[in-house]
Amino acid sequence: MSREGLPPQAIRKLAPGKLVIASHNEGKVREIRDLLAPYGIEPISAKALDLPEPEETGTTFVANAELKARAAADLSGLPALADDSGLCVEALNGDPGVYTANWAERADGTRDWQMAMQKVEDALATKGPEASRSAHFVCALALAWPDGHIEWFEGRSDGTLTWPPRGEAGFGYDPVFVPLGHNRSYAELDPAEKHAISHRADAFAKLVAAVF
Ligand code: IMP
Repeated sequence: MSREGLPPQAIRKLAPGKLVIASHNEGKVREIRDLLAPYGIEPISAKALDLPEPEETGTTFVANAELKARAAADLSGLPALADDSGLCVEALNGDPGVYTANWAERADGTRDWQMAMQKVEDALATKGPEASRSAHFVCALALAWPDGHIEWFEGRSDGTLTWPPRGEAGFGYDPVFVPLGHNRSYAELDPAEKHAISHRADAFAKLVAAVF
């Protein structure tokens, strides 16, 4: 789903001021703050406002981003931006996809990314040595206003999976993802290098072109 192709006047502009970042994922919030820095926006995290995390019941990235942005805008009375993203592995028919975060969940409710990366590697191993290691990240951004208006944007980055995990920067599955045209994993790139090529940066470029 995308707003590309619609006339620009159909897209609502975002005025400078407060914007709730509807995520409790610190890695994402940090990247979103960096990406918003040039635009006169005052980001406030959902965690700082003590907003609850809604259950992600959607079956698409856009549906989950909308659900999170809508809940935060309704509860805060402010515009809210949510990101739903994940890793899609070609040989696994797009898994873990919208369930990317769930693959990291432990029985006690905490998340373990080392375990999640291992699960992806184990799932790939069942496909045999010839299986494609191609994968892509998707990022859906939804921007919701308290009056019910919503805009959304999707970005993507293609690459391959490496094993074992490499690098210390970034978050989530960054240590196993090598973006196309690079030989370092996302976790081996500087944040600025990742911001130039990532799925989140791709979605942000579309958002910036449309709403600022
Ligand atoms: P959700 O969007 O909150 O459902 O979670 C998506 C999950 O995908 C995150 O918790 C990360 O593990 C993973 N993910 C999304 N974007 C990135 C990224 O840029 N690098 C690494 N992992 C990511």
